[in-house]
Amino acid sequence: MNVCFVASEVVPYAKTGGLADVSGALPKYLARYGCDVRVFLPLYNMVDTRKYDLRPVDSMQRIGLQFGGRWIHFSVWGGTLPDSNARVFLIDCPELYHRGSVYTDSADEYLRFALLSKAAIECCQRMGFAPDIMHCNDWQTGLIPLMLKTIYSWDRLFSRTRTVLTLHNVAYQGVFSASTIDVVGMGEYRQRFDNDDLRYGIVNWMKTGIFYADAITTVSKTYAQEIRTAEGGAGLDRFLRQRGGAVMGIVNGVDYNEWSPEKDAFTKYKYSINDLSGKEANKQHLLQRVNLTYDPAAPVLGIVSRLTDQKGFDLMFDTIDQVLSRRNIRLVVLGSGDERYERFFSGVQTRHPGKVCYYKGYSNELAHLIEAGADIFLMPSRFEPCGLNQIYSLRYGTVPVVRKTGGLADTVQQFDPTTGNGTGFVFRRFSPKELYWAIEFAIHTWHNRPVWRQIMRNGMRKNYSWEAQVQQYLRLYLRLTS
Ligand code: ADP
Ligand code: GLC
Repeated sequence: MNVCFVASEVVPYAKTGGLADVSGALPKYLARYGCDVRVFLPLYNMVDTRKYDLRPVDSMQRIGLQFGGRWIHFSVWGGTLPDSNARVFLIDCPELYHRGSVYTDSADEYLRFALLSKAAIECCQRMGFAPDIMHCNDWQTGLIPLMLKTIYSWDRLFSRTRTVLTLHNVAYQGVFSASTIDVVGMGEYRQRFDNDDLRYGIVNWMKTGIFYADAITTVSKTYAQEIRTAEGGAGLDRFLRQRGGAVMGIVNGVDYNEWSPEKDAFTKYKYSINDLSGKEANKQHLLQRVNLTYDPAAPVLGIVSRLTDQKGFDLMFDTIDQVLSRRNIRLVVLGSGDERYERFFSGVQTRHPGKVCYYKGYSNELAHLIEAGADIFLMPSRFEPCGLNQIYSLRYGTVPVVRKTGGLADTVQQFDPTTGNGTGFVFRRFSPKELYWAIEFAIHTWHNRPVWRQIMRNGMRKNYSWEAQVQQYLRLYLRLTS
């Protein structure tokens, strides 16, 4: 099975969120099962080519593509995904990708990913690589299915290619002026785009992908249902319903080589389900690292997140100060994003000196230390397609407090004191009161040490490895190509 996998971010090269984790792991596991996988992403200026042994591919240098009246040139760097046979190709085009961040607000944002999409296709042509599956991810690659059916339909290399579009988040759809259709070379096929959108003078890349991909997957079963409703579909629900059985949910896997307390490369003290003692040492180490005092009687609450509206931190505006005033706890927050959340967490830190550390920014190391050192992990998302941090938390015995939505609903079960079953604390309504209840319930339960250890173990026993999840993608690929 030949698989061409295209994504805007891939671990370990470039990452802003969970898409990169998935794009770095799934291809690796597909390759392990015998697929010939070739991964494409942009060569952003922050990619460390030396560290990952990436080199220019001789046969693919200074390739020109026309966009509107202008030629854009790109070159290709190649390597292999660490610990795998999957090959990776990075599209080098400084004028588009040397912008200091993966995503931008620039007017030519569409062009950056139009180039990625076309370059992936044209590299397949140059390598004579006939993909059985072209696996696209999110809006950035949403035009590929239609491109293959139109501007590249002449090429028999793709005559058997089937397309899969994975929706990691329907909140970002890639909506641009309709005039960009001409620039990306699809003017002749204007009518194939949503006509209502065209009347409004816009084009929606994700919607276009939903129209033309042979299969559409999203990253949890519950989210697959939610996006088919007016409430959760962000305007795409009607089109997803129209695609019927072509839409399915496959929960993300986790790379336990990177995210497990036994193997964690960033933590000093390893621990496991059979010996939890290292957990306390990691907690001390975490608190020392963020300059908070360790108190064995105070549970540590952790957050690692992009700070956007999606993540539900609005619920904390009216709750967390109260919890911090009344309870002997510590709170460690790692994240950056919208200014109002950054300001909020800075304020919380100022109001509760010695109890709270807000680390504004991005740090993979600190993300690992929080998973290993916190007792409770907070993820009150407004919506959550899958969510990875709650799954990491389960494995680290860091009991998650989550809202029952999307992938959080699929991966965390409410703890039931009468049976001792359950892996976390789950609230339903998007209300501060319910979050408050869940946090209080968790803190209260933490003080009952044997019960808490039971919840930790319930979670640590869960297995969300890619080993299991990759089978579902393989079955889908087989169904599409047979
Ligand atoms: P999303 O993709 O919506 O951001 P996920 O839970 O799927 O949410 O994945 C988030 C990923 O990004 C996790 O691997 C998490 O550890 C990482 N992450 C998020 N914010 C930060 C940060 N500030 N520093 C380091 N890692 C972060
Ligand atoms: C998106 C979603 C997140 C998901 C990730 C990987 O960023 O917000 O819930 O886990 O993609 O699929």
